[in-house]
This record gives sequence, C-alpha cells and structure tokens, in this order.
Amino acid sequence: MSDKPPRYASWTAGKLPLPELLELKQRGEKIVMVTAYDAPSARLADAAGVDLILVGDSSGMVVHGRESTVPVTLDEIVFMTQWVTRGAKRPLVVADMPFGSYETADEQAVANAVRLVKEGGADAVKLERGGTSVQRARAIVGAGIPVMGHVGLTPQTATVLGGFKAQGRTADRARQLVDDALELEAAGCFAIVLEAVPAAVGRSATQALSVPTIGIGAGPDPDGQVLVWHDMLGFYEGRAPRFVKRYAELGDVIVDALRRYADDVRSGSFPEEQHTYAMPAGEREAFETGSGQYVSSTPLRRDSRSSTRKRT
Ligand code: KIV
Repeated sequence: MSDKPPRYASWTAGKLPLPELLELKQRGEKIVMVTAYDAPSARLADAAGVDLILVGDSSGMVVHGRESTVPVTLDEIVFMTQWVTRGAKRPLVVADMPFGSYETADEQAVANAVRLVKEGGADAVKLERGGTSVQRARAIVGAGIPVMGHVGLTPQTATVLGGFKAQGRTADRARQLVDDALELEAAGCFAIVLEAVPAAVGRSATQALSVPTIGIGAGPDPDGQVLVWHDMLGFYEGRAPRFVKRYAELGDVIVDALRRYADDVRSGSFPEEQHTYAMPAGEREAFETGSGQYVSSTPLRRDSRSSTRKRT
C-alpha cells in the first residue's frame, strides 16, 4: 500500500515539490499557507497538513511587540527560518525579505535571498510590491531562488499607502494591482500574495495569472489562503484585521493555565509526588544526617527532595 497522499500528483517522501503548487491551481485545489516563527509551531503546521509556511516579518508585530514590520532585520528572519525549517519537514518554507533587505540593488537582494536559503534553510523568499521589486524578483529568480510576490496592502510601505487599510478600491488602483501581479509573474515569481483587496480584485488577479494567488483578505477566489498564526489562533492582543477568522482562543487557554499554575504554586499544591525525584532511603539518610552542613534549621513544608533542571 502506498503512503502517498491522494491530492499530490507527484509526491515524493519529504518536501512538497514546488511545481505541485501550480498543479494544485490547475486542478482547482486550494493551497493552504500559514505563518510560523519557531520549530514547535512549524511542526504543528506540518502535522496539520499545511502546504506552505511563511516566516513572515509579521513576527515583528505579533511576536516581538513592535508597531510595524519595518524594523524587522534580516538576521531575525534568518534565525526564525532556521527554527521553522527544523520543525517543518513537508511544507515549503518561504522566508520574508524584510524592509531594507532588497530595495537598494539587485546584488543586495540576491545576496540577502541567498542568506535566507543558505543559512536559514528557506525553500523560497517573498518580497513586497510591484515597481522596483519586479526587477529584484527577476534577479533573485535568476540566481536560482524561488520568489513569491506580494501586492495590495504591503505592510512594509503602509505609510505610503495611508496605513493598514484595504487597497485597490478604485478601478484604476485595482487595474494597477493586477498589472503589478502580472509583472511579478513575468519576472518569474511562482506565486503572488494578494493582501486586503476587494474580492473582485482577488478574482480578476487569480483569473489573469497562470501562477497561484494566495489571498489574505482577497475574498474566496484566490488559489490559496494565508493567515497569521497569532491572529487565527487568538493570542495576538492588538486589533485583528477584518479578514482574520479566529479558529481558537489560545490566549484565553494560556492565561487560564498560567493562573491555575500560579494558584498551585502559591498554595503549595504543586509540585506533587509524581513531579518529584526521590533518593534511595539509605542515601537520603546519609545525606541528611552526614555532615549536617546542607540541612537547614528552617523546617521544610514537606520532605526534602532532590531535583534537577535537566529534562529527565
Ligand atoms: O509577514 C507576513 O505575515 C505576511 C503575510 C501577512 C502575508 O506577509
């Protein structure tokens, strides 16, 4: 019996082959993408069967508490990509190129994309906007690295766009966005993220492009969807965008667990016997009655116990 998942035509053990994304679009099967920023999250996303993991610069906001993605550095994305690629075996891992890591010149863009692949272990990189980014995408693809484009609301340039708000709401701007996406496709991008655009723009771009579109607030028609981990799982404190669907309220679950832990510690009901290491009776007696130098005159609440910080 084959262990080949039925939905992948040319699946081989391990990594999802990049060309499968195009085949999924052609077969009308949706592509699933989520962000992740560390190994355990990546492992969970892999276990859930997601196709693509984005090490997004959204980490700057949802993990590192910043107001925007602009200050995120290449080193941060390299580190997080290393963690994610240790946890995710089958999903393709896409590393975001942070603001300032590709705008200056093709050489800069290629050198930084190479770091994400070589040091981080990314399978592909993502950059934002049309315009000069089209040429950067072409240069990176030319160096042999798969590139994902990103148009619509591009958080790295949110100030120019007037803030974190939907884009392409006039016919002219909508046409411009689809043109940007087409130019990125012509530059060799294997997929394009469409963020915070009207559903009509999501539909047109998806019909116009041969490569898959991945929507986030672009309606139901894109070839796939992406959501930010902390938004969809309910442990980001800030106001979530309109396009987020919360699939869990993990923030509440975590606060409840921490409160119960704090109560147990304060009341002395944790740790219990099963969380505690014992000593052979003779050794304990020798230890406690021996020199006496380690036994405090302060009475212990319970029996003295040995412990270790190592996970044993
Ligand atoms: O950084 C990020 O998480 C992103 C997604 C919103 C597409 O770019």
